[in-house]
Amino acid sequence: DKGNFRHFMAKEIHEQPEVLGHTLSRYLDLTQSKTVLPKGAEFDFASCERLVISACGTAYYAGLIGKYWFETIARLPVDIDIASEFRYREVPVKAGDLALFVSQSGETADTLASLRYCKAQGMKIGAVVNVPESTIAREADFVFPTIAGREIGVASTKAFVCQLAVLASLAVHAGRVRGTISDEREAELVRMLAEIPAYAVKALRHEVEVEQLAQPLSKSQHVLYLGRGTSFPLAMEGALKLKEISYIHAEGYAAGELKHGPIALIDETMPVVIVAPYDGVFEKTVSNMQEVAARGGRIILITDQRGAEESGLQAWKTIVLPDVPAFIAPIVHAIPVQLLAYHTAVFMGTDVDQPRNLAKSVTVE
Ligand code: M6R
Repeated sequence: DKGNFRHFMAKEIHEQPEVLGHTLSRYLDLTQSKTVLPKGAEFDFASCERLVISACGTAYYAGLIGKYWFETIARLPVDIDIASEFRYREVPVKAGDLALFVSQSGETADTLASLRYCKAQGMKIGAVVNVPESTIAREADFVFPTIAGREIGVASTKAFVCQLAVLASLAVHAGRVRGTISDEREAELVRMLAEIPAYAVKALRHEVEVEQLAQPLSKSQHVLYLGRGTSFPLAMEGALKLKEISYIHAEGYAAGELKHGPIALIDETMPVVIVAPYDGVFEKTVSNMQEVAARGGRIILITDQRGAEESGLQAWKTIVLPDVPAFIAPIVHAIPVQLLAYHTAVFMGTDVDQPRNLAKSVTVE
């Protein structure tokens, strides 16, 4: 049932504050200001030297953002790869270390094959999954559920942000048990995580503004997405979302790679979506933005109030989200990125929930 929405995708985008709340409630103990692991998923992150993450599509981008969190907060090195490469690479892994598989459906063929490879190597298997009765959930030793509810739109939205919420919570938990963060720091990070649903509500209020970009964007044949740090995977996720539902060619790039090739594409016809919350790499992204502006690129800047003040640059369009702690910014900034793809596709009249050539769950190679 789509309720009052035109598409399941719109409904699912708007459900995000609620399902983020449900998901976080499984991982946060707010009375103690601590992270908790779900029952039966008490993996000892202190026993692990390295984390392996494997997934496909949007779930892979969630894993990539997770890598930043595990490495910075828990000082836990992460090897991550798309499952269709991972499964054939004969990756050397250590028995006893944790391999995490991220999947909405829990049925993706390549992700499942990667899981079985890691299991055969004696690794412990963790699954961040949305469907608890799925094959991946059943074959895992530790199930870390996302409580996104059934996701019907082929383009993953609410499952993605819930995957991020789980990975962020696990990274904080791992940080505490590994002794890389203090109890006070954990409490601070838990407070930030607890505020995500409220920030998601605020981000959704920018929908009308984002919708106004749909018409100009629909005229483009190519769109470039740029970001640094945790915004780099988000740039790739934005590009994936736009291509899968609007059929506009889009690419997500690390902002710092601009000079190494893609800058050659920039001219007055090229929209460039820059995802840049005010975080530790913001200044660096701004200098890339200046390079785009100098070549006439049409910049759509997704930032926060502080970022909008500090950028000192007139973008073509700027979406100004409320200031949000850098730690949780990727979850909040995902929302305008999703809305941009959604409204562009709606404007173009494509079949948003059932885009051509795509299946919700890729159970064959
Ligand atoms: O069910 P899974 O999370 O394992 O699916 C992985 C990808 O097939 C999926 O995220 C796909 O990229 C989506 N259509 C993206 O919106």
